[in-house]
Amino acid sequence: MADSWVNSWVNSWVDSAERIGSDLHLELTGPGGRRAALIRALREAVRSGRLAPGTRLPPYRSLAADLGMARNTVADAYAELVAEGWLTARQGSGTRVAERAEPLRPAARVPKKSPPRARGPRHDLMQGTPDTSAFPRAAWLASYRRALQQAPNEVFGPGDPAGRVELREALTEYLARARGVRTEPGRIVICSGFAHALRLLFGGGVLRGPLAVEAYGLGFHREVLAAAGVRTVPLPLDEHGARVDRLGRERSVLLTPAHQFPTGGPLHPARRAAVVDWARARDGLVLEDDYDGEFRYDRKPVGAVQGLDPERVIHIGSVSKSLSPAVRLGWMVLPERYVDAVRATKGEREAWSSVLDQLCLADFLTSGSYDRHVRRMRQRYRGRRDRLVTALAEHAPHIEVTGVAAGLHAVLRLPPGTESSAVKAAAWQGIALDGLAAFRHPETDMPAVDGLVVGYATPSEHAYGPALEALCGALPPP
Ligand SMILES: Cc1ncc(COP(=O)(O)O)c(C=O)c1O
Repeated sequence: MADSWVNSWVNSWVDSAERIGSDLHLELTGPGGRRAALIRALREAVRSGRLAPGTRLPPYRSLAADLGMARNTVADAYAELVAEGWLTARQGSGTRVAERAEPLRPAARVPKKSPPRARGPRHDLMQGTPDTSAFPRAAWLASYRRALQQAPNEVFGPGDPAGRVELREALTEYLARARGVRTEPGRIVICSGFAHALRLLFGGGVLRGPLAVEAYGLGFHREVLAAAGVRTVPLPLDEHGARVDRLGRERSVLLTPAHQFPTGGPLHPARRAAVVDWARARDGLVLEDDYDGEFRYDRKPVGAVQGLDPERVIHIGSVSKSLSPAVRLGWMVLPERYVDAVRATKGEREAWSSVLDQLCLADFLTSGSYDRHVRRMRQRYRGRRDRLVTALAEHAPHIEVTGVAAGLHAVLRLPPGTESSAVKAAAWQGIALDGLAAFRHPETDMPAVDGLVVGYATPSEHAYGPALEALCGALPPP
């Protein structure tokens, strides 16, 4: 079968002077004369799979005659391809395509455009993402331009693993003013966001478990910790936040004090003080996840717990909620005794966060663009929060809304045992959202709380109204 195919392939060449096998669409062209062209053409035919492994080639004499080439030239070409491993030559069985000459599998083509996405939900009310249509493109660009224009040449060399000093200075000022953080640039280490901070602290061996965490929290963070070999111990929650009186033998505790994630309340002032006392008494440490500290609507901002004792709290923030999770910039404000270890964990030079982005963010902060953006977004999100509360009061007054004084999401409380069917009903209506169960620590013994976590920042402005309408229509009846 293969023989006859090769023969017809050779015969077909006779019809077209410079082409080998019209079936194969190979050409005897290119530099280096006809011998080189023949080698290239045969190699390509094997490589591409058009001459399959085991296929017998015509005797070199026949091929030479057909091609009008000297026999030696064709014999040489065969010999070279045998030497390269593309062909095998055995007495009595002729010259064949080598069995192990695997055809090159074409690399998956990189599509020019992203492939059309599978139909997603019609209404995206997942928590976690700021309104991506509101990224301050012009102001960011202006900061980038200024940062590049002013950057000394050494910026384009290896970066300091602690992060650019311009950014650490800008953060020192901003965090003191906006979040009540007490620090100085030497105690800040730049990272690529909160998850990266966890990886550096625990994966890098600076801290060890077990780590107390809130009974409801981001599962992804628990996974990061588990991957670093850290056991997490769930702390129950009540209306005042995490039950820090339940802290036991753990060395450290991870909290979201300004806005418990995802249930939404601030940690009660007495508990803020109590957790710091616990850390002092146990030589322990509080990790403060200040993920959306800027977004407060009806009450004064809750300052950072770090301000109570900078030596007992690692304050961690990022721009993922305030600007965009795509920027991948965050910071750790460290007690002095951890600074060297965290810097060492980052390595000898900056390998995570673009130094140019760091300079851009520094300019964005010092030029006032960050404050302006946060102010604008605070207004926008407050407006959305109000619309959510009003719509629910009108169309689903039996549903209690909690956690609405701050942040980018709200929790709609549901009667016990109804959450899973409510999430399914929402999905049925094309609404993407999570139930509280998605955030529950698998080992907690606190009673389950039923609720829907509604991210009201995610849809763009024009999509929000229809999303709200769909949500109200999908909620369980009284
Ligand atoms: C609870 C919580 N912590 C922290 C973050 C920030 O994570 P990252 O800085 O890794 O994007 C988020 C998401 O934005 C979050 O939901």
